[in-house]
Amino acid sequence: MEHAVAVSPWVSLAYLVAGVCFILALRGLSSPVTSQRGNRFGMIGMAIAVVTTLVTHLPVVVPPFDAGGGRIDDRWNFWDPLVVVEILGAIGLGAAIGIVTARRIAMTAMPQLVAAFHSLVGLAAVLVAAAAFLNPLAFGIAQVIRPIYGPDLITILPVSRIEMALGVAIGAITFSGSVIAFLKLNGNMSGKPILLPGRHVINLALLASILGLIAYFVTDQSPWIFWTITVLSFVIGFLLIVPIGGADMPVVVSMLNSYSGWAAAAMGFTLHNTAMIVTGALVGSSGAILSYIMCRAMNRSFISVIAGGFGGDSSGGAAAAASDRPWKRGSAEDAAFLMSQAEQVIIVPGYGMAVAQAQHALREMGDKLKAHGVRVKYAIHPVAGRMPGHMNVLLAEANVPYDEVFELEDINSEFAQTDVAFVIGANDVTNPAAKTDKSSPIYGMPVLDVEKAKTVLFIKRSMGGVGYAGVDNELFYRDNTMMLLADAKKMVEEIVKSLD
Ligand code: TAP
Repeated sequence: MEHAVAVSPWVSLAYLVAGVCFILALRGLSSPVTSQRGNRFGMIGMAIAVVTTLVTHLPVVVPPFDAGGGRIDDRWNFWDPLVVVEILGAIGLGAAIGIVTARRIAMTAMPQLVAAFHSLVGLAAVLVAAAAFLNPLAFGIAQVIRPIYGPDLITILPVSRIEMALGVAIGAITFSGSVIAFLKLNGNMSGKPILLPGRHVINLALLASILGLIAYFVTDQSPWIFWTITVLSFVIGFLLIVPIGGADMPVVVSMLNSYSGWAAAAMGFTLHNTAMIVTGALVGSSGAILSYIMCRAMNRSFISVIAGGFGGDSSGGAAAAASDRPWKRGSAEDAAFLMSQAEQVIIVPGYGMAVAQAQHALREMGDKLKAHGVRVKYAIHPVAGRMPGHMNVLLAEANVPYDEVFELEDINSEFAQTDVAFVIGANDVTNPAAKTDKSSPIYGMPVLDVEKAKTVLFIKRSMGGVGYAGVDNELFYRDNTMMLLADAKKMVEEIVKSLD
């Protein structure tokens, strides 16, 4: 039996170091101040893991002159050049695609890119499991039984069957779920929830069938069982994500991130690769924690989002109930005057700031206001923008000092003592309907209490434009609100000029 593959202590040590680097990476990524260091740890860990795996798994060719009875010296063995070229070619191609994509992608399209990457992890898990099923001896997960009569029987070890079946199931769910998430986030598919009748019963029946087949696979390694598990898992991944509405998409993406981690961990068991098991478990658990935190931020039930389709029915851009109530329009000069007279200004950035790429102009405005003796703070809602940490990343890119940036729970009580709340391209995250209107798709989500400030300035392009949840914002029509209708970057640049 080949199962107990001897692993050199140096390989174990290298994987351990890689694992520690990944933990330090996660730790670093928990704050914008240390995020670059965290990223570097992640890259070092991944380099160690990849190089160790390559060095230990490349097939070795013993030169013929050694095999001829002469001096056998392992130092002269070399790796099969064809395999080396294949692997380096694949790494080079993947790296080139990754670099070009990362450089070209707009910050606003990041969520769909992440969903696309998760789909690849899921597909990789399916392919590894399929390869292991089709050629179990090559993976060291089978034993050969030689009966007296008839051909040899190749029996996959029961524990490997469980790992393989779980790997293919989680991988397939991650793949089809991520493809649907990508299509929804990219606008190729409507963000509206598609609620199939009896979907919960269908999902439960599918889940029960998959679990039943996995159990059966342990006793019988017939190909039909393996492929049925694969197909049913693709179907359930699709059915779980299709009913989820636009507003719950951020949670879904981080949940799929978690699934992709578990799929990688399952692959690690099949490939006997400790680094993959550790990395997969880290991604799986950190993704699950992030999903939980985001569910709390949006006041959604974690279980309901995992089960699919219990979430809000936001329409992701449906027409708002356009109001013809009166509203006040202001100019850049009005805004500059009001803010320069203030003691404290709280800036609330949202998706519109990202679209307009107004963060640099905004930092300049903050600097000018500080020069006028105004205290400037930034309030970040956990789901402002279109991905977790979206606003933090943009503000950090513009060198906004970290000590001026506050999370919702740390700053919400300050609006009541603030002269001006300056809302730039944010809408849903300020909408008081979340607190009062039970029929609103964002009902229950904690929001920034901007209306408590003496004056609220709202930058957006038109009164008709709605936020992600597709609902009107009653704050636009309040007495203490002044609308600044323009592209966010242009408006802020004009305010900066007026502050001179
Ligand atoms: P939104 O509610 O989407 O509002 C964006 C606002 O920006 C709109 O009022 C829009 O109005 C304005 N805008 C767009 N482009 C602009 C530009 N160039 N210049 C000036 N204004 C512009 O944004 P939010 O308040 O940040 O809320 C985020 C929403 O996205 C939440 O509903 C959240 O659930 C959802 N979501 C979040 C995530 C994560 S993880 N952050 C992921 C997916 C979805 P005009 O069109 O009139 O300009």
